[in-house]
This record gives sequence, C-alpha cells and structure tokens, in this order.
Amino acid sequence: MDNNINDFSGDFPVLDQQVNDERLVYLDNAATAQRPRQVIKALTDFYEQDNANVHRGVHTLAERATKDYEDARQKVQVFINAPAAHDVIFTKGCTDSLNLIAATYGEQNIKPGDEIVISIMEHHSNLIPWQQLAKKKQAVLKYIELTADGELDLADAKHKITDKTKIVAVTHASNVMGTVTPLKELVAIAHQHGAVIVGDGAQAVPHMPVNVQDLDVDFYAFSGHKMMSPMGIGVLYGKADLLRAMPPYQYGGEMINDVHRDQSTWADIPFKFEAGTQNIAGAVGLGAAVDYLSHVGMKNIQRKEQSLVNYVLPQLIAIPDVQVYGPQLPQKHTGVISFNIKGLHPHDVATALDMDGVAVRAGHHCAQPLMEELGVTATARASFYFYNTKEDADQLIKAINETKEFFNIGTI
Ligand SMILES: Cc1ncc(COP(=O)(O)O)c(C=O)c1O
Repeated sequence: MDNNINDFSGDFPVLDQQVNDERLVYLDNAATAQRPRQVIKALTDFYEQDNANVHRGVHTLAERATKDYEDARQKVQVFINAPAAHDVIFTKGCTDSLNLIAATYGEQNIKPGDEIVISIMEHHSNLIPWQQLAKKKQAVLKYIELTADGELDLADAKHKITDKTKIVAVTHASNVMGTVTPLKELVAIAHQHGAVIVGDGAQAVPHMPVNVQDLDVDFYAFSGHKMMSPMGIGVLYGKADLLRAMPPYQYGGEMINDVHRDQSTWADIPFKFEAGTQNIAGAVGLGAAVDYLSHVGMKNIQRKEQSLVNYVLPQLIAIPDVQVYGPQLPQKHTGVISFNIKGLHPHDVATALDMDGVAVRAGHHCAQPLMEELGVTATARASFYFYNTKEDADQLIKAINETKEFFNIGTI
C-alpha cells in the first residue's frame, strides 16, 4: 500500500459508526460520497451567519451570500481550469447539466438526419436526453462499442464519428466498470468532424485532476454530491461562445436582462442559465468541498485510490466464482469495481455484505444497455474513495468469502 496520503477517514463523522454490529465500510462512493466536517461546517456557517437570497439585495447579508455564491463559482473555475468563472453554470446536478445541453444546444442545432454519438457504457443520464432528442429531431443515435477488455473502442469511435455527427457525448469514467475513456482523443476526433463534444465527468472530477482547457472539451458536466458537497448542486462547464449562442433552459427571475409585455432579453452567462432561486447553500458547500479536495490534492487522491485498487482487485479476481466486469488490470481502473458471485443475485450479495458492515450497491447502475452488453441484468459494485483504507478492502474480501460460505457457493 502507498502511504503517501494520510488517513482522512477521521474527517468524516458518518464513517465512525457500526452497522449490524460491524465497523461500517462505506464502498458506495460512486452513488454518493460522504461529507467531511469542513463541508458540513461551511453549510452551518452559511445558514447561521450569511443566509439571504443572492444578487438582488443591497443589504449586508445579501451581499455576503452573493459573495459566498460567486466565490464558490470561482473555486470551481480554478478546480477544473475553466477559462472564466462565467463558463461555470450551477445546476441541480450532472443529470440536470446534461439535460440542459440537450434541451438548448441540441434543440437549436440538431436537424433530421444528423448523428449523435455516445458510448454503450453511458449512464442513463448521458443516454436518454440524446435518445429522446434524436427521436424528436429524426436524428440518428449511434453507440461506440467496447473492446473485449471493457474499454471504449477508439477504432470504433473513429468509425462512428463522421461528418454527419453533430454531438458526441461520452463519459470520462464509467460508473460500472471503472474504465477511464480517452476523452482527449475523442475531443480531437469530434472536432476534426466539426462536432461538439460533451464530457460526463460525474465519476471523474471527484477522483482525478480534470483540466477542461487541456481536454478542449466543449461541455463538461458533473455533480457535487459525488465530490462531497451537499446534494442538489452540480456544474455545467461550457465554452463561452457556445453558451452565449444557446437559448435559455428555463425562464423566470434572475435570468433576464429586460422584460416587457411582449418580449424579453436574457442576462449574460452564467445567469442566463440560472433561472429562479438557486441552491445557494449547495454552491457554498461545493466550494468547501473543492477547498477540501484541493487541500488533499487530486493527484494524491488518484494515487491513493489506485493503490487501493492495486491491493483489492487481484484479490477479488482470485476468489473462485467471482466475476469482475471490465478491465482486469488495476492500472486501467478507477476505484469502481463491478462483480458478481456465480449463482447469487447481486441484491442478495449486497444484503449479505451489509450484514458484515460493508455498503455496496447492486443493480443495473442506471446503465441498462451496458448490462445487456455484459450479458447480465445487474452487478454488485464496490466503489472506493480516498478516505477508504486497506482495512476496508480487507473487510470487503472477508465479507465476500463469508457470503460464499453462507450460501454454499463453490462448496457443492
Ligand atoms: C457517469 C454518471 N453520469 C451521470 C450520473 C448522474 O448523476 P446525478 O444523479 O448526480 O445527476 C451518474 C450518477 O451516478 C454517473 O455515475
């Protein structure tokens, strides 16, 4: 194990408990991460000291709340290296960000016969908005397939992305197999054909350094809650010229310039896309989460998660009757590992692991086309974050072996 990074679990009060008389091992981080005290305190401080609506008041609390909110935007800007703070739109989450692009850019630019290209490993949030847009506009939805190892097939991407392609939308990291996609290469291919490209960063931004300018991605979406912020806040990054040319997503207060009886004009970005009272406390919490992650260091986080995967994945693969989906090489994995135990439904596996204090997720992980591709209806999924430890990995492996014993798997 790599000991370059301290054990941060002490910062997370929720981790300090027993579940079913066992030490809680939280391995459901791909669904949502836990919050450190620093984020919880930022929320409490905001509500106890600064709470007010933003932008529209001149009183002291309104000015403080506005500063807190806009400071959070700047923190996110720096964190993903966006060129300007106005390129960062606050949304409800990754799903909301992706729907926003489909409903505005997609609605405005997709015509009958155009092609939209996504990958077969997309989360439903980066699949259904494009599927529905394609149906509505009589466009064609194409899927980039996987290699035998569960990676995005770049050769197939080169084949699928053509001059007819108008939008490419691809996850940066799979929420099922832990695969990291070659997003930068995909950006280059999309741009060669004049298409815009959307990155789904829900499983990437919390776990690795992300630099949107280096990626040269046109849009990039992610959720706060998977990177330790409160729920209900997320981000859409977009290139300013694209964002400015897009119609608004929703109409109402805050997003206007001038309103008259028969016509209205819109505010500049980012406000054009932030209609109504926003999740101000959520943004403040996201800013605190960004501070925390930056303090730990995204490279350190990536290294720590890699060392956990290096430790646990070969052990998991070596257990008879356990099948791991996606890349078998630890270095090709984020901390997300999907597996099944032969003869057991993943829901039974997850329930049994919970009896040993180990929280994993079971189901289709909002990726049913990928499940079909893998030939399963569901998997169990253990997903690690930097505050997990070697002991957590040991408890997972022990619990899987005990589950097998309990159900007499491999002993008949
Ligand atoms: C890859 C990916 N994209 C999008 C989403 C949607 O995120 P949210 O439910 O926070 O909007 C998720 C959530 O699990 C995800 O893993």
